[in-house]
Amino acid sequence: MDNAPDMTTNTDVQETPTEQQLRDALAEKLIEIGEARSSRVVAAFRTVRRHLATPEADMASTYNAEVATITKTDEHGVDISSVSAPRVQAMQMEQGDIAPGMSVLEIGSGGPNAALLAEVVGEDGRVVTVDIDPEVTSRATAFLKETGYRNVTVLTADAEHGAPDHAPFDRIIVTVQAADIPPAWIAQLKDGGRLVVPLRMRGLTRTVAFVRDGDHLVSDGFELCGFVPMQGVGENRVRLAVLHAEEGAEVGLRVDGHPEPDTAALTKALAMARNEQWSGVTLGGSESNEHLDMWLTTALDNLPLLAAKPGARSRGLVASASPLGIPTLVDGDSFAYRTVRATDQEDRYELGAIGHGPRGQQLAERLVEEIRTWDRDHRGDRAHIEVYPAGTPDDRLPADGRRIERRHSRVTITWP
Ligand SMILES: C[S@@+](CC[C@H](N)C(=O)[O-])C[C@H]1O[C@@H](n2cnc3c(N)ncnc32)[C@H](O)[C@@H]1O
Repeated sequence: MDNAPDMTTNTDVQETPTEQQLRDALAEKLIEIGEARSSRVVAAFRTVRRHLATPEADMASTYNAEVATITKTDEHGVDISSVSAPRVQAMQMEQGDIAPGMSVLEIGSGGPNAALLAEVVGEDGRVVTVDIDPEVTSRATAFLKETGYRNVTVLTADAEHGAPDHAPFDRIIVTVQAADIPPAWIAQLKDGGRLVVPLRMRGLTRTVAFVRDGDHLVSDGFELCGFVPMQGVGENRVRLAVLHAEEGAEVGLRVDGHPEPDTAALTKALAMARNEQWSGVTLGGSESNEHLDMWLTTALDNLPLLAAKPGARSRGLVASASPLGIPTLVDGDSFAYRTVRATDQEDRYELGAIGHGPRGQQLAERLVEEIRTWDRDHRGDRAHIEVYPAGTPDDRLPADGRRIERRHSRVTITWP
């Protein structure tokens, strides 16, 4: 053999995947992770040329199931507009149980999700997409024109009022975090229709699939999610009570309708020694805390979320840091937050609580007691959420559980 180069193969050169390969790989990934389950949704992801909506972004990343393409950030660095991650879009479409011929309102535009919805409802259906930001709607309009979706109407308006000229809708898909349900969303939904909405309840956001039942909404499942905050009339952001301000190691409490914390006393408490309490309740590595946290927020009155930057953890200020926030029981000058520790079983973690302050131990014990109650009575159960108009008398609401009072609605969380 001589050393002449082999012209038939060149393993150094990686072929760039074609657009269609990227779309097919995305569809396969969404099937694999269980987010795209119906053939209509899978077919939509195989078809929509989503990268054209954000030409400034790397094309391959726009077809990454987990990646949202951020398109706008406010003056505080908070993301306020994006094209949602494909995983989240698929999840919401499945929650919406959208079928050909339906009329769908999308709240919060971007372009790609409206196109996916248009694929699913088909030629006999229609999609209306509304966004408060004219820059977003002009980008979405250009994308939908370029990709040829004629059954989508793009509106620039505050979705607080829905889209009255186009109502009623079979489905309303909200793609922005909401702390409340404006009356227009219920009024413009057909009875029996589905509203899918990332609803923030005492700091916890879940994308809830609701079914309209007369004047109120009844949940039919929910999923964990994160979305950009609502702007306009319905703007209602969580407040951060800062307990430690060091850059990169900030610690604070996200307050969402909870009693106002005594920040000075809690700052002192954070500097005091920890008290650890352990529950004996364990979770597998892939099990999420999402249902436990819903139980804790139902059962305990004053439970804001502890938010900490990674530096706070590495500095030893807190044992756990999660971008979603950690349920934290607060009482006056003391607090206790949920945590986990490794066990001697591989990939199993024990749930516990860490208390700080003069009554840190009692609060940690109280939190652990509720972790045990969840494990004993509700593990495997799912919370049931209903939304009633504000002013609905108590005797029409579910009897037990948690009530969250918002401007337009009374949200209830109950357990079987
Ligand atoms: C996550 S983005 C929408 C993404 C889009 N559904 C997609 O994936 O193609 C959320 C959008 O909600 C919009 N928004 C925020 N508050 C709004 C309001 N009150 N009415 C209408 N749109 C709003 C923002 O401008 C932002 O563009």
